[in-house]
Formats: sequence, C-alpha cells, structure tokens
Amino acid sequence: MITLQNLSYKVFDNKEEKYILKNLNISFPKGKLTVITGQNGSGKSTLMKIIAGISKQSEGNVFFGEKNIDECSISQRANLGITTAFQQPVRFKGITVRDLINLASKKQNTVAQACEFLAKVGLCAKDYIDRPLDGTLSGGEMKRIELAMALAKGGEVFLFDEPEAGIDLWSFEELVGLFKELKGKTVIIVSHQKKILQSADFVMLLNRDGQAVFGEKIEVLDMIEQPQCRKMGGAK
Ligand SMILES: Nc1ncnc2c1ncn2[C@@H]1O[C@H](COP(=O)(O)OP(=O)(O)OP(=O)(O)O)[C@@H](O)[C@H]1O
Ligand SMILES: [Mg+2]
Repeated sequence: MITLQNLSYKVFDNKEEKYILKNLNISFPKGKLTVITGQNGSGKSTLMKIIAGISKQSEGNVFFGEKNIDECSISQRANLGITTAFQQPVRFKGITVRDLINLASKKQNTVAQACEFLAKVGLCAKDYIDRPLDGTLSGGEMKRIELAMALAKGGEVFLFDEPEAGIDLWSFEELVGLFKELKGKTVIIVSHQKKILQSADFVMLLNRDGQAVFGEKIEVLDMIEQPQCRKMGGAK
C-alpha cells in the first residue's frame, strides 16, 4: 500500500507560487488497481515521480506500508519493491533485449524464462530476444519492452504512466489482462483511456487546482460522466 499524507507539490510560475498537487490524503490499496486520470497538466506524472522518488514533494509524506519513504532514494525505493515502467530503458551499445531482462530481474534467465516476459507484453519472443536496443525498435515495441522489464523486475508496487502510449488499440485487451495478472500488488496506472479506467478497482481524478477525487471506480466514473465534471478533467 502507498499512502500520501498531506502531500503537496508546488512550483514557481512567473514568480508566483502554484500548487500542482495540494494537500492530498490518499491510500492506494494493496491488491487493487488504481487508475489516475485528469486533464493534461493536472499533475499525474508529477505524482508518479514523487512516489518513485524522482521528484520530491514540497510538503507532506509518502508511506510504503507503514514505512515513511521520504528520505529514500530512487534505488532504495526500487529495492523496497516500487517498480516503475516509465523511464526509458538504458541503451548501451550492444545491449540486447535479453540482457535488459536479465538486468531487470537481476538473474540470468533461461531463454524460455526471458521469452515468457516478452510473450506477456505481446512480443513474439524469438523475433525480439536478441534484438539490440537501438533506434531500429519502434516506439510501441520500446514501450512493450519497458513493460516486460517491469514484470521481470517484479515488486510490490507497480507504477505505470500512460502505458498505452504508442500501443495499438487492438492490443488494449492484452494490456489490461497484464495488469490484472499483478494480483495482490499495488498497481497504480496513469491513463486517459476508458478501457483501462474500466479495469480499475479505484479511480483518482486529479483536477487543475491540485486536488483530487478518489473512490471506487463506479462512483468516480459516474462523476466523470457528469457534464460539469468534464471541465475538471474527465477521461478522453
Ligand atoms: N518546475 C516547474 N515550473 C512550472 N511548472 C511546472 C514545473 N514542473 C511541472 N510544472 C507543471 O506542472 C503541471 C503538471 O505536470 P505533469 O507532467 O505532472 O502533468 P500530467 O497530469 O502528467 O499531464 P499529461 O496528461 O500531459 O501527461 C504542468 O502544468 C507542468 O507544466
Ligand atoms: Mg503525464
């Protein structure tokens, strides 16, 4: 479980203080899938970066279970089991997809094991396993490889920022199936897509004032459908 306690993030915009996230008190439950949605610029990626330790909140605290992780670095959080799938994989010359999966899982996988991760993200393993990570991979293929890395790494908390970006619409069902497989974990996904929102247990709607509505999917999606809510930043 990840808990935000009085969490705020502010920036200086034209010398004026502006809250991107304001006094959030939210728990993302273990074993549940939460989808964060809201207008462009409402602070979704900022929140994911704060949980991952890439950005630091201005006020408030973040807890991993009972543990306050405010002072933990990105790698300490990763070691605790907070796994992200939104940073571009490292691209060293000569490194292959298989090397990357081994790096992520911190072990030498057999070909069959490595292929399993690729198959889960819809890549035909034999075609990709020995591909070098270079500019010849398409955007969607790279995105899938990032997802495969997150699965290979494992963890307790999975953070996905717009995992659907660059993934063709026909593969959405598979993508949703993949999230459902992370049973028992805390899964937090930023998405604008209705199909992904529909797969959530909980939905968090961020608005442009830095505040959020958090609740069971049905309640929040009903709210998003209300015309007055569209101004707040419902799903596309
Ligand atoms: N240092 C900064 N100074 C001014 N504004 C900033 C700074 N850092 C972030 N912002 C603003 O914070 C807001 C939130 O950005 P963020 O990337 O979290 O939005 P988002 O909800 O992920 O949007 P999108 O749907 O487009 O991905 C944006 O308006 C961004 O311009
Ligand atoms: Mg974003």
